[in-house]
Amino acid sequence: MIKIAPSILSADFVNLERDIKAVSSADYLHVDVMDGAFVPNITIGVPVVKSIRKCTDMFLDVHLMMEKPVRYIEAFAGAGADMLSVHLEADHPTRIAEALRIMGDCGVKKAVALRPITKAEAVLPYIEELDMVLVMTVEPGFGGQAFIEDQLDTIRRVRAIIEKYNPACELEVDGGVAPNTAPLVVGAGANVLVAGSAVYGAADIPAAIAALRG
Ligand code: DX5
Ligand code: ZN
Repeated sequence: MIKIAPSILSADFVNLERDIKAVSSADYLHVDVMDGAFVPNITIGVPVVKSIRKCTDMFLDVHLMMEKPVRYIEAFAGAGADMLSVHLEADHPTRIAEALRIMGDCGVKKAVALRPITKAEAVLPYIEELDMVLVMTVEPGFGGQAFIEDQLDTIRRVRAIIEKYNPACELEVDGGVAPNTAPLVVGAGANVLVAGSAVYGAADIPAAIAALRG
Protein backbone atom coordinates (compact mmCIF):
# COMPACT_ATOMS: atom_id res chain seq x y z
CA MET A 1 0.00 0.00 0.00
CA ILE A 2 1.43 3.35 -1.08
CA LYS A 3 1.36 6.19 1.45
CA ILE A 4 1.18 9.85 0.54
CA ALA A 5 2.90 12.52 2.63
CA PRO A 6 1.94 16.04 1.52
CA SER A 7 4.66 18.58 2.26
CA ILE A 8 3.39 21.73 3.93
CA LEU A 9 6.34 23.61 2.44
CA SER A 10 3.95 24.30 -0.45
CA ALA A 11 1.06 25.32 1.84
CA ASP A 12 0.01 28.89 2.59
CA PHE A 13 1.59 29.47 6.03
CA VAL A 14 -0.93 32.19 6.84
CA ASN A 15 -3.64 29.58 6.41
CA LEU A 16 -1.71 26.58 7.67
CA GLU A 17 -4.56 25.00 9.63
CA ARG A 18 -6.85 25.20 6.59
CA ASP A 19 -4.13 23.72 4.37
CA ILE A 20 -3.42 20.89 6.83
CA LYS A 21 -7.10 19.97 6.98
CA ALA A 22 -7.17 20.01 3.17
CA VAL A 23 -4.80 17.01 3.06
CA SER A 24 -6.48 14.92 5.77
CA SER A 25 -7.10 12.06 3.30
CA ALA A 26 -3.33 11.54 3.08
CA ASP A 27 -1.29 9.24 5.33
CA TYR A 28 1.49 11.39 6.76
CA LEU A 29 1.97 15.14 7.06
CA HIS A 30 5.50 15.97 5.88
CA VAL A 31 7.07 18.89 7.75
CA ASP A 32 10.26 20.38 6.29
CA VAL A 33 12.58 21.93 8.87
CA MET A 34 15.45 23.95 7.31
CA ASP A 35 18.18 25.80 9.18
CA GLY A 36 19.76 28.05 6.55
CA ALA A 37 23.07 26.16 6.95
CA PHE A 38 22.55 22.55 5.86
CA VAL A 39 20.35 23.97 3.09
CA PRO A 40 20.13 27.53 1.75
CA ASN A 41 16.63 28.15 3.11
CA ILE A 42 14.97 28.67 6.49
CA THR A 43 11.49 27.35 7.13
CA ILE A 44 9.95 26.35 10.44
CA GLY A 45 11.08 25.21 13.86
CA VAL A 46 9.96 23.64 17.11
CA PRO A 47 7.15 26.12 18.04
CA VAL A 48 5.43 25.65 14.70
CA VAL A 49 5.56 21.84 14.99
CA LYS A 50 3.99 22.24 18.43
CA SER A 51 1.15 24.31 16.97
CA ILE A 52 0.64 21.86 14.10
CA ARG A 53 0.36 19.03 16.63
CA LYS A 54 -2.55 20.85 18.27
CA CYS A 55 -4.55 21.15 15.07
CA THR A 56 -4.23 17.66 13.57
CA ASP A 57 -4.10 13.98 14.50
CA MET A 58 -2.17 13.17 11.32
CA PHE A 59 1.14 11.32 11.61
CA LEU A 60 3.82 14.04 11.66
CA ASP A 61 6.77 13.05 9.48
CA VAL A 62 9.37 15.70 10.31
CA HIS A 63 12.27 16.05 7.86
CA LEU A 64 15.21 17.74 9.57
CA MET A 65 17.37 19.53 7.00
CA MET A 66 19.74 20.91 9.60
CA GLU A 67 23.36 20.67 10.72
CA LYS A 68 23.97 18.50 13.78
CA PRO A 69 20.34 17.47 14.30
CA VAL A 70 21.26 15.54 17.46
CA ARG A 71 20.91 18.89 19.27
CA TYR A 72 17.18 19.11 18.54
CA ILE A 73 15.80 15.55 18.62
CA GLU A 74 14.31 15.85 22.09
CA ALA A 75 12.77 19.23 21.29
CA PHE A 76 11.05 18.05 18.10
CA ALA A 77 9.91 14.84 19.79
CA GLY A 78 8.49 16.90 22.65
CA ALA A 79 6.73 19.17 20.16
CA GLY A 80 4.77 16.17 18.86
CA ALA A 81 6.68 14.72 15.91
CA ASP A 82 5.83 11.06 15.23
CA MET A 83 8.93 10.40 13.12
CA LEU A 84 12.17 12.31 12.65
CA SER A 85 14.48 12.06 9.64
CA VAL A 86 18.11 13.10 10.07
CA HIS A 87 20.42 13.59 7.11
CA LEU A 88 23.46 11.31 6.98
CA GLU A 89 25.50 14.27 5.66
CA ALA A 90 24.60 16.48 8.61
CA ASP A 91 27.02 15.11 11.23
CA HIS A 92 29.63 12.45 12.02
CA PRO A 93 28.37 8.84 12.09
CA THR A 94 28.69 8.61 15.87
CA ARG A 95 26.43 11.65 16.26
CA ILE A 96 23.90 10.25 13.78
CA ALA A 97 23.84 7.06 15.86
CA GLU A 98 23.35 9.20 18.96
CA ALA A 99 20.44 11.07 17.31
CA LEU A 100 18.77 7.71 16.53
CA ARG A 101 19.31 6.54 20.11
CA ILE A 102 17.62 9.67 21.45
CA MET A 103 14.69 9.13 19.06
CA GLY A 104 14.28 5.67 20.55
CA ASP A 105 14.39 7.06 24.09
CA CYS A 106 11.77 9.68 23.16
CA GLY A 107 9.49 7.11 21.52
CA VAL A 108 9.53 8.62 18.03
CA LYS A 109 10.09 6.66 14.83
CA LYS A 110 13.56 6.77 13.34
CA ALA A 111 14.57 7.70 9.82
CA VAL A 112 17.70 8.72 7.97
CA ALA A 113 17.70 10.85 4.83
CA LEU A 114 20.08 10.85 1.86
CA ARG A 115 20.99 13.83 -0.33
CA PRO A 116 21.37 12.89 -4.01
CA ILE A 117 25.18 12.68 -3.70
CA THR A 118 25.01 10.04 -0.94
CA LYS A 119 25.26 6.37 -1.85
CA ALA A 120 22.53 3.92 -0.84
CA GLU A 121 25.11 1.87 1.07
CA ALA A 122 25.50 4.75 3.57
CA VAL A 123 22.38 3.44 5.35
CA LEU A 124 24.05 0.10 6.16
CA PRO A 125 25.37 0.99 9.65
CA TYR A 126 21.86 1.97 10.79
CA ILE A 127 19.45 -0.09 8.70
CA GLU A 128 18.40 -2.66 11.28
CA GLU A 129 17.03 -0.06 13.70
CA LEU A 130 15.34 2.25 11.17
CA ASP A 131 11.62 2.73 10.59
CA MET A 132 12.22 4.58 7.33
CA VAL A 133 14.85 5.68 4.82
CA LEU A 134 14.20 8.94 2.95
CA VAL A 135 15.78 9.26 -0.49
CA MET A 136 15.90 12.80 -1.89
CA THR A 137 15.12 13.13 -5.58
CA VAL A 138 16.01 16.86 -5.62
CA GLU A 139 18.69 18.82 -3.77
CA PRO A 140 17.02 19.63 -0.45
CA GLY A 141 16.07 23.24 0.18
CA PHE A 142 13.11 24.17 -1.98
CA GLY A 143 9.82 22.82 -3.27
CA GLY A 144 8.91 22.75 -6.94
CA GLN A 145 12.24 21.48 -8.34
CA ALA A 146 12.66 18.98 -11.17
CA PHE A 147 12.88 15.28 -10.27
CA ILE A 148 16.42 13.83 -10.58
CA GLU A 149 15.88 10.64 -12.55
CA ASP A 150 19.33 9.23 -11.69
CA GLN A 151 18.03 8.76 -8.15
CA LEU A 152 15.86 5.84 -9.30
CA ASP A 153 18.97 3.73 -9.04
CA THR A 154 19.53 4.83 -5.42
CA ILE A 155 15.90 3.98 -4.63
CA ARG A 156 16.36 0.48 -6.10
CA ARG A 157 19.55 -0.06 -4.11
CA VAL A 158 17.99 1.13 -0.85
CA ARG A 159 15.02 -1.16 -1.50
CA ALA A 160 17.40 -4.11 -1.93
CA ILE A 161 19.17 -3.25 1.35
CA ILE A 162 15.81 -2.95 3.14
CA GLU A 163 14.63 -6.32 1.81
CA LYS A 164 17.85 -7.94 2.99
CA TYR A 165 18.22 -6.42 6.47
CA ASN A 166 14.91 -4.90 7.62
CA PRO A 167 11.87 -5.58 5.40
CA ALA A 168 9.53 -3.62 7.71
CA CYS A 169 11.46 -0.40 7.06
CA GLU A 170 9.64 2.12 4.86
CA LEU A 171 11.21 3.84 1.86
CA GLU A 172 10.17 7.45 1.35
CA VAL A 173 10.97 9.54 -1.71
CA ASP A 174 11.00 13.33 -1.57
CA GLY A 175 11.32 15.87 -4.37
CA GLY A 176 9.61 16.34 -7.70
CA VAL A 177 7.06 13.59 -7.07
CA ALA A 178 4.09 14.21 -9.38
CA PRO A 179 1.65 12.06 -11.40
CA ASN A 180 4.33 11.40 -14.05
CA THR A 181 7.16 10.48 -11.64
CA ALA A 182 5.17 8.66 -8.92
CA PRO A 183 4.91 5.39 -10.91
CA LEU A 184 8.69 5.48 -11.50
CA VAL A 185 9.57 5.79 -7.81
CA VAL A 186 6.99 3.16 -6.84
CA GLY A 187 8.42 0.87 -9.53
CA ALA A 188 11.89 1.40 -8.06
CA GLY A 189 10.67 0.38 -4.59
CA ALA A 190 9.35 3.45 -2.76
CA ASN A 191 6.26 3.07 -0.56
CA VAL A 192 5.92 6.60 0.91
CA LEU A 193 5.69 9.54 -1.50
CA VAL A 194 6.25 13.12 -0.37
CA ALA A 195 4.56 15.69 -2.59
CA GLY A 196 4.44 19.44 -2.11
CA SER A 197 3.63 21.26 -5.30
CA ALA A 198 1.81 18.29 -6.86
CA VAL A 199 -0.67 18.33 -3.94
CA TYR A 200 -0.98 22.00 -3.01
CA GLY A 201 -0.79 23.18 -6.62
CA ALA A 202 -3.75 20.99 -7.61
CA ALA A 203 -7.26 22.38 -8.06
CA ASP A 204 -8.72 19.29 -6.36
CA ILE A 205 -6.40 18.28 -3.50
CA PRO A 206 -8.11 14.99 -2.45
CA ALA A 207 -8.14 13.92 -6.12
CA ALA A 208 -4.44 14.76 -6.45
CA ILE A 209 -3.65 12.65 -3.36
CA ALA A 210 -5.69 9.73 -4.72
CA ALA A 211 -4.00 10.01 -8.14
CA LEU A 212 -0.52 9.90 -6.60
CA ARG A 213 -1.48 6.81 -4.61
CA GLY A 214 -2.19 5.10 -7.94
C1 DX5 B 1 12.66 19.90 -0.32
C2 DX5 B 1 11.73 19.30 0.67
C3 DX5 B 1 10.55 18.68 0.08
C4 DX5 B 1 9.68 19.61 -0.75
C5 DX5 B 1 9.13 18.80 -1.89
O1 DX5 B 1 13.90 20.15 0.25
O2 DX5 B 1 12.36 18.31 1.47
O3 DX5 B 1 9.76 17.98 1.03
O4 DX5 B 1 8.63 20.18 -0.05
O5 DX5 B 1 8.46 19.65 -2.74
P1 DX5 B 1 8.00 19.17 -4.20
O6 DX5 B 1 7.07 18.02 -4.02
O7 DX5 B 1 7.32 20.40 -4.74
O8 DX5 B 1 9.24 18.80 -4.96
ZN1 ZN C 1 11.09 17.03 2.77
